Amino acid sequence: MKYQNIIRLILHLLCWLPLVRLIIDWQRDDLTANPIEFLTHSTGTWALVILLASLTITPLRKIRAFNWTIKLRKMLGLYAYFYVCLHFAIYIWLDHFFDWARIGEDIAKRPYITVGFAAFLMLVPLALTSNKFSIRKLTGKRWQQLHWLVYPAAICGVVHYYWLVKADITEPMIYAVALAVLLGIRIFYKLKPQQRSPREYKPDLQPSD
Ligand code: HEM
Repeated sequence: MKYQNIIRLILHLLCWLPLVRLIIDWQRDDLTANPIEFLTHSTGTWALVILLASLTITPLRKIRAFNWTIKLRKMLGLYAYFYVCLHFAIYIWLDHFFDWARIGEDIAKRPYITVGFAAFLMLVPLALTSNKFSIRKLTGKRWQQLHWLVYPAAICGVVHYYWLVKADITEPMIYAVALAVLLGIRIFYKLKPQQRSPREYKPDLQPSD
């Protein structure tokens, strides 16, 4: 088995692990004294971790020309979206029991929920268009323009976390610095004069099924 496929398999397992652990903890009735908060925090944290992991692919390819890693970007993006959906579903179902009026009020009035919801809304079209059909339909340029939304979505995810913590901002700051570095590398390469050989350069237009 090629090492790329082994890495891909390991990443699949790592992305399923948080959910499997939550299910095992649930089965064992071991979701802490406040299961809803625990589930919300776990799914939110993994959504952010995997979203940032998906943003490491482009810099990785630039620095070490690991072109094949493009295949991992869509996979990580969809897993991040999956955990955001779980996170939001827990909020709608377990936390607010489909009280749409209260949910609407929450989204409108609580800034950290507003910015979290904004991040969610920006991730929806990205997940829906992560396939070859959408690239063909949208054309490469417009698809890339649409997928630019991942940046404000990630920023909103970090701000969401930063605004919700009461006292200790250490963890949200770690995510903020990580995101700043990932965006900084992109800006550096955008501003750096391009000296690429035609063989090395591959436009990242493939959702890679
Ligand atoms: C649909 C919109 C969203 C809603 C309604 C929502 C709601 C929440 C709530 C209620 C909490 C717990 C707050 C508390 O403990 O007081 C939370 C925590 C969190 N959310 Fe969200 N969220 C949303 C979207 C997102 C997105 C898109 C991300 C990441 C990309 C995210 C990442 C997090 C993180 C990292 C935490 C904190 C986890 C921790 O404390 O360990 N959320 N969210």
